[in-house]
Amino acid sequence: MSSGSLTPRGAEVLAVEGVGVRLAGRDVLRDVRFTIRAGELTGLIGANGAGKTTLFRVILGLQGPTAGGVRVGGGARSRRDPPIGYVPQKFLLDPDMPLRGRDLVGLGLDGHRLGITRPSRRRRELVEAMLGAVDARRFADARVGQLSGGEQQRILIAHALISQPKLLLLDEPLANLDLRSAQEVVTLLSGIARERKISILISAHDMNPLLSVMDRIVYLAGGHAASGSTDEVVRSDVLSELYGHHVDVLRVHGRVLVVAGTGDDLQAAREHASPASAIEIV
Ligand SMILES: Nc1ncnc2c1ncn2[C@@H]1O[C@H](COP(=O)(O)OP(=O)(O)O)[C@@H](O)[C@H]1O
Ligand SMILES: [Mg+2]
Repeated sequence: MSSGSLTPRGAEVLAVEGVGVRLAGRDVLRDVRFTIRAGELTGLIGANGAGKTTLFRVILGLQGPTAGGVRVGGGARSRRDPPIGYVPQKFLLDPDMPLRGRDLVGLGLDGHRLGITRPSRRRRELVEAMLGAVDARRFADARVGQLSGGEQQRILIAHALISQPKLLLLDEPLANLDLRSAQEVVTLLSGIARERKISILISAHDMNPLLSVMDRIVYLAGGHAASGSTDEVVRSDVLSELYGHHVDVLRVHGRVLVVAGTGDDLQAAREHASPASAIEIV
């Protein structure tokens, strides 16, 4: 190890241990457990309503679990933990708000403090370096609400990274991006995980844009999670168990599709119609 301050690759950064969350009388998460190690890029995959945002809120300490707990950096959550970087799912930026991309990145240095912070040379240098790291210099002076979805994501990633977290959570960062911007953001995040040795957890309802970069997948369905390598998890037997009914995993043109078709549905389809009527993308 060259420096004592670096987290050695492979050290545990996050452990989710048997987390259960009950909301409005319903078990949204049940006995969710997985570990994330330094420098790993993990995809948190699940359909809408699977509990991805809820799990992020538990990891961030914003939502208390009904069962289980979370360890960050090898210990129980505490105030002295290194910050966790977070890019929330719903981040509405008004087009007319007089805030430049570089201002928003700078706000990431202020942590929980609110108010006017005196600009300093050091601060400007940090912001400039961060803008460079996410390739956002060319639009850093535009109003942030007027940037494209992909440009806003870069600014939000820089905002979350500038406090040098060891763990970065991004909630559906690809959801509103076109295919090309999504691929660019994925490439950027994968480079950041590798070069900065930080762990990144990205949630998505579609695993396909992440297939080439995920070191690990955490697949959420029916309140439960399966985790491991993509080959270990994205299999018909594992996912059928998770969903509680039969699903098939189809690989078509390099894409993975998880399709549901219960035994009954398939039987009915064979009798009455084309098999296509029995499948549904989940
Ligand atoms: N505050 C809440 N009160 C009651 N139910 C909630 C609350 N927040 C989320 N839920 C429910 O929990 C489930 C998981 O939601 P969420 O974590 O937002 O899923 P995802 O992010 O995967 O789309 C959904 O059924 C949602 O309606
Ligand atoms: Mg969500």
